[in-house]
Amino acid sequence: MGEKIKIEGGVALRGHVRAEGAKNACLPVMAASLLCEGEVTLCDVPPLQDVLSMCQVLECLGARVAYDPAEKKMAIDARGLCGVEAPYPLIRKMRASFLVIGPLLARMGKARVSLPGGCAIGIRPIDLHLKGLRALGAQVLIGHGFIETTADRLRGERVYLDFPSVGATENIMMAAALADGVTVIENAAEEPEVVDLARFINAMGGRVAGAGTDTIRIYGVPGLSPAVHTVIPDRIEAGTYMVAAAITGGQVTVDNVIPTHLVPLIAKLKETGCDVLEEESSIHIRRSGHLRAVDLKTLPYPGFPTDLQSQMMALLTLARGTSVITETVFENRFRHVDELRRMGAQIKIEGHTAVVTGKERLYGAPVKASDLRAGAALVLAGLAAAGSTEVSCVHHIDRGYHRLTEKLASLGAAIKREE
Ligand code: EPZ
Repeated sequence: MGEKIKIEGGVALRGHVRAEGAKNACLPVMAASLLCEGEVTLCDVPPLQDVLSMCQVLECLGARVAYDPAEKKMAIDARGLCGVEAPYPLIRKMRASFLVIGPLLARMGKARVSLPGGCAIGIRPIDLHLKGLRALGAQVLIGHGFIETTADRLRGERVYLDFPSVGATENIMMAAALADGVTVIENAAEEPEVVDLARFINAMGGRVAGAGTDTIRIYGVPGLSPAVHTVIPDRIEAGTYMVAAAITGGQVTVDNVIPTHLVPLIAKLKETGCDVLEEESSIHIRRSGHLRAVDLKTLPYPGFPTDLQSQMMALLTLARGTSVITETVFENRFRHVDELRRMGAQIKIEGHTAVVTGKERLYGAPVKASDLRAGAALVLAGLAAAGSTEVSCVHHIDRGYHRLTEKLASLGAAIKREE
């Protein structure tokens, strides 16, 4: 049955907690290390299951990876890059492995990757990734469960993304880094993690301009050389702890954050009645009075992040009034709703919209994590619920949260993991 997280709710969290390096910046940066003929050093690499999975992918392609989880430092040397295939079991385990396809094409002229397939939050297509790679001159063959791309030479092109896909933007940026000429990505994703990837490619001698806007220009260079890169802080992990403070009526400082990456969440938490104070690299959050209902709609950055939607929903189940939550990024990201209902939440789903009627309290119950962020939302609900909550399938949570129970316990939560 695997491990569970057990929580006795009702404790107002207090104290300091530090956010790790961002999972969703680290994974593309690790993939981009394949572009470099030399050893790169990555700092503040979070010791997460997904990071370890990406290490396996890079190693099976012939790169040498040395990771010290205590120091959170990683060295990747892709001089020995010899493989062009990311095996299905690894892709199935973590769809972000698909991010190696761009670098492999750029370095080896060929890549064979299993189709990532869907996951709990949606079908997760890759059409925009393939549109971009084809535009750069790659031939793409879709076989039974795998994709094979080949390109003698990648050449810069203009690519319009029908949706500002984070992964597609990153894959195209990496392929374009070593292409002949200039690539322009229009309607590109603007997420901070895309900017961090561009920063890393430029540190290796690449030429990426405009990352963080909807138009990114990549000027191909002949080759990239080693660099040292520190991964940006994880805005989603930090946001999760901010909501933990709000939902328990506590007072918490989250350290190692970039406040400008959390503007939508800060705004929404203030609207619910929380006090939020931003400093250079930390955020103080306190909630003393009652919570007010708010509406929110998830959007590509700089809109409200879909990765914090389930956490905010958990909070709003306890707000006074009715909140309307609209999920516009993924088509099936309300898997946490049934589980929150088991804890007494009143939520009505109408298509991509969830109507949350706030209640006085939630009640602890055995609940099941369906995906990474839904699992985090259930832990947050358990922190505030009366009685004890058991969250199962915590392997989903381990993919994106390092020492979640220890960090929450250090803030006073009555929480522990057990078999
Ligand atoms: C990244 O996934 C993140 N993962 C996700 O975080 C995050 O939720 C998502 O961006 C949105 O911010 C990593 O960075 C490893 P997308 P990604 O391509 O790149 C559609 C977490 O919890 N789409 O921006 O897969 C797609 O169906 C994870 O840490 C296409 O239609 O997200 C979806 O509706 C979950 N065609 C929307 O775009 C494509 O070719 C957003 O997907 C690609 C995407």
